[in-house]
Amino acid sequence: MKKRKILIAGNWKMYKTPQETREFLEELKSKVSSITQINIAVCPPFTSLIVAKQILEGSNIKLGAQNVFYEEEGAFTGEISCKMLKDAGCEFVIIGHSERRKYFQEDDTLINKKIKAVLKHSMKPIFCIGETLQEREENKTFEVLNIQLEEGLRGISIEDMKNIVIAYEPVWAIGTGKTATSSQAQEAHRFIRDYISKKFSSSLSEEVIILYGGSIKPHNIKELVSQEDVDGGLVGGASLSIDSFVSIIQNSIL
Ligand code: PGA
Repeated sequence: MKKRKILIAGNWKMYKTPQETREFLEELKSKVSSITQINIAVCPPFTSLIVAKQILEGSNIKLGAQNVFYEEEGAFTGEISCKMLKDAGCEFVIIGHSERRKYFQEDDTLINKKIKAVLKHSMKPIFCIGETLQEREENKTFEVLNIQLEEGLRGISIEDMKNIVIAYEPVWAIGTGKTATSSQAQEAHRFIRDYISKKFSSSLSEEVIILYGGSIKPHNIKELVSQEDVDGGLVGGASLSIDSFVSIIQNSIL
């Protein structure tokens, strides 16, 4: 038995219109309705959230968003606030995904502000961290993870830490078909849990959900979630088709 309840979350990225969302979630809902052993979530684009909320109400599938701005409201053209996401039914918000760090210049300071805003609005950040291929090859993985954790979690209380999900996503494994081996994932997850134990508390570190992300597929999820410190997955590409997402969900029930 796993110590923590596994979470499988789909990160749809910039895919699916509201109509496509409706069709997908109606089918997903019926296919996974009897699953209670693990937690399931989907993170569609903003324009699909309301439709998703309506379909998922009362189901065992939770809803998340992929980004947010930290200000309460105001003249911030193009941005979405926490209040809006909460109202749209979100329980989770992905923060600091490597694509946002790379293409939208999000840095650790901004990510820290977003994490705090999400917590303030009683939602759970899925805080993404991970090293690039170059950093791994230069043996800097743990140094990089340490900085991302230190900066991203600056000023976070023990109480708040209970509501943060961490996603370890090695940048070199995202969308590339290259998955970290289960031992590479376990090693990084152990490092993250040890960090939480040192900075917060050891009992809290045993509760925090740490997801793996990066080329999760139906055939590799079981071995990943069998690792002691891997509590589930943040799934990109393979969460977009019903068959593969449902298989991933089923294969992660140990
Ligand atoms: P991938 O994406 O599963 O397509 O590699 C994972 C992610 O970016 O969260």
